[in-house]
Amino acid sequence: MTTQQEMGTGGEDQTEARMTIVRPTLLTLVLGAGFVRSTSAQDFTQETQAQRDARMAWWREARFGMFIHWGAYAVPAGTYRGERVDGIGEWIMSRAHIPIPDYEEYVHRFNPAQFDADEWVRIAKDAGMKYMIITSKHHDGFAIFDSKVSGYDIVDATPYRRDALGALAEAAHRAGMRFGVYYSIMDWHHPDAQAPNYPDYNSRTWSNPNFGRYVETYMKPQLKELLTQYPNIDVLWLDGEWIADWTDERGRDLYNYLRAIRPSLIVNNRVGHTRQGLSGLNKEGHVGLGDFGTPEQRVPPEGLPGVDWETCMTMNDTWGFKSYDDDWKDTRTLVRTLIDVASKGGNFLLNVGPRADGRIPAPIMSRLHEMGEWLATNGEAVYGTTGSPYGMPAWGRYTARQGRLYAHVFDWPKDGRLELTGVKQQPLRAYLLADGKPLTIEQAETGGGGGFVARLPTVPPSTIASVLVLETSVRGAQ
Ligand code: GLC
Repeated sequence: MTTQQEMGTGGEDQTEARMTIVRPTLLTLVLGAGFVRSTSAQDFTQETQAQRDARMAWWREARFGMFIHWGAYAVPAGTYRGERVDGIGEWIMSRAHIPIPDYEEYVHRFNPAQFDADEWVRIAKDAGMKYMIITSKHHDGFAIFDSKVSGYDIVDATPYRRDALGALAEAAHRAGMRFGVYYSIMDWHHPDAQAPNYPDYNSRTWSNPNFGRYVETYMKPQLKELLTQYPNIDVLWLDGEWIADWTDERGRDLYNYLRAIRPSLIVNNRVGHTRQGLSGLNKEGHVGLGDFGTPEQRVPPEGLPGVDWETCMTMNDTWGFKSYDDDWKDTRTLVRTLIDVASKGGNFLLNVGPRADGRIPAPIMSRLHEMGEWLATNGEAVYGTTGSPYGMPAWGRYTARQGRLYAHVFDWPKDGRLELTGVKQQPLRAYLLADGKPLTIEQAETGGGGGFVARLPTVPPSTIASVLVLETSVRGAQ
């Protein structure tokens, strides 16, 4: 966030007078006093471990999901008035100090005629992804779903006039793909949120006396619309919680509000106010409020034992589409990152930034397809696994499930001897997931501390990562 903090202040507030689309009604003015209203009696943060385990089960099993950042920022695609704007694409409104009326022009031009919801779901499925999280409303305030609470949405404010999020939700449902939405608490467009602080939309210290009204009459109603209009939303991925007006108290109220609408919902920890930057955790290294930690652009070096977490990451250097960002990570890096995350017990949410016309850029498609090819052979060693019982071996990573240890070999041994670091009991059977042929396991000769060595063929089946299965027991623990 530091780069966004460089913003100058002192511009005149031109926003309120020119605001055309979001208009508080008399009713909302009456309702919107600046206090936190507790709308639900039940405290959902107090569930039992068994209830929590049941609710989190599919998510822990999934391991790999698609993040989609898509909105009006894909129209300028990183360029404002002929100048390239540094930083992540979906921040262009803040980075380039774009006045609200100018930004609204992008919304009026947002026309994703080539968007094909089934195709997006097919791409995610083909990549081996088990869930999708799409930006329903980002910091810019523009909603890509049909919102009755707001005119600043894809149906009312764009030439497209159709509910793209609804189409994607339905396509995901048809394909048996889990689905969730991102929603930004911070809102640079709403007069009761950050809009009046133009040009410093992202101030961490500025506060809006009417923020409570925004929460009660706009944000919560929009979230309720999402959860009631799209019955298959399983995850709410909040963000923008660092603003001065947000508190843990508001977060707790929101968490309970959301789960009262949908008890099975999984909510990320950005619902609270205690996240410490990109670590995605609070000061004590815990999730804090919410169900899972959200490390961003990084994998926690030692994992986070006992904590549910999900690393979100970009494929290039932006979340929202930028026409000239070609800094793509290669497939090998992406697959190894997924393995690294799984070996530490986390989920990997990999971002896709589609173009404004609805097409997914080709470099993304090819990488996702290759990831899917790797997972088609090796998925058993990722989905539903737990983290490594033996830390990080020098040659790669381990994942595990009951009775099985998976050795993901990044650096294939030249002499064909793979030291099974940490393994104390002779595995019953060993084979590569790529061909299933039985391999020999030997007791290490010297200096191996009584450990074991697997004899591998000379050529690795994959240059990305070759997975060796070690059956440690027919049934029961390692
Ligand atoms: C940061 C950025 C936001 C992005 C998010 C994804 O919070 O502000 O633009 O959506 O990371 O994790």
